[in-house]
Amino acid sequence: MRPIRIRTKTEEASAVYFPRDALRALKKYAGDSALIFTDENVFRLYGERMRESLPGAKIHVMPAGEAHKVPETLGGLLQAMAEAELTRASALVAVGGGVVGDLGGLAAALYMRGIRCIQVPTTLLAQVDSSVGGKTAVDFCGVKNLIGAFRQPEAVLVDGAFLQTLPAREILCGAGEIVKYAALDGALFDLLRERREDLCDSSFLSSVVPRCIAFKAEIVRRDPQESGLRRCLNLGHTTGHAIELSHPELSHGACVLYGILYESALAKRYLQCDEEYLSRLEALCKRALSAHAPGIDAAACARLARLDKKNRSAEQIAAVVPVRKGEFALLELAYEEYAHALNQIGEITC
Ligand code: NAD
Ligand code: GLY
Repeated sequence: MRPIRIRTKTEEASAVYFPRDALRALKKYAGDSALIFTDENVFRLYGERMRESLPGAKIHVMPAGEAHKVPETLGGLLQAMAEAELTRASALVAVGGGVVGDLGGLAAALYMRGIRCIQVPTTLLAQVDSSVGGKTAVDFCGVKNLIGAFRQPEAVLVDGAFLQTLPAREILCGAGEIVKYAALDGALFDLLRERREDLCDSSFLSSVVPRCIAFKAEIVRRDPQESGLRRCLNLGHTTGHAIELSHPELSHGACVLYGILYESALAKRYLQCDEEYLSRLEALCKRALSAHAPGIDAAACARLARLDKKNRSAEQIAAVVPVRKGEFALLELAYEEYAHALNQIGEITC
């Protein structure tokens, strides 16, 4: 498959490659001096292959999970980079999901004011979303992604083989983002509708990853630092994040899918939209969610949506919502109105 190249307005170049074996390909992209950063689960599964791929490189392993996406882990990684005597010419290779990618990307942006970063995403979510586009961050003071930087990775190596070891819950995380892309990209929407029986199948989902990345790459090229257009990539995420905070037992992907369901209902209520299309989009979300149908506490979600970074103030809720095939809109509602609407929409079942 041909690489997808991204050149932003700030002239930072980045490219996404689809090698047959990403770890074997590392030598070509990382160069002679590199440190590999990964988490304990990915290391357990692929550590030996990492050692073989870059025999001279040190490997720094973090504990797995969002709870460790914090400055302390970042500090440990920066220390390992200094002890490995990385120079401006070295590369940080992040092999893992979005947590490893966000942390590794930030460490690469900070070390010596910026060294090369090679992303090797191993979850579906990281392949389809987080490894591409240059958003890097750690959580701080209990707020997600409060400290971060925009810095494009030099290369992203996407290899679907990693998905063979990924648990179903993590596949659903990526599926949520893929359905989000379908709500933005009409041709992808048609394809997912045609293949709706396969929405939980990792091989099918993996086959649409390049299309999703190409879509995101074009958005990032036009708006690398999210001053406008890039906000469309947050479709479904305002209510999705609030659901994530009020329902910690749900995966991020399930929350995004519920977020799209609620925000589609909001679009029907407040905007001129294609209701038939929105009903089809809702059916896709429910299909992807199929096995996950808990009740959502709409009142708690509304309260937590007040905390979303995308809002101008806690009194004004902003959400990118689907309106018709390939079209979306920014819906801004006073908090009281949003809370009232969510309560009226009530519980959504699949
Ligand atoms: P994650 O990195 O925590 O990975 C999920 C789990 O899967 C972990 O336990 C990990 O060890 C395990 N894992 C990873 N690869 C595996 C494999 N191939 N086989 C078996 N297990 C594997 O979570 P995630 O969903 O990949 O990423 C979520 C993070 O991404 C969040 O912190 C979120 O804020 C961030 N994110 C960033 C962006 C961005 O643009 N930078 C976009 C979306 C999400
Ligand atoms: N995940 C949204 C973005 O990269 O902008």
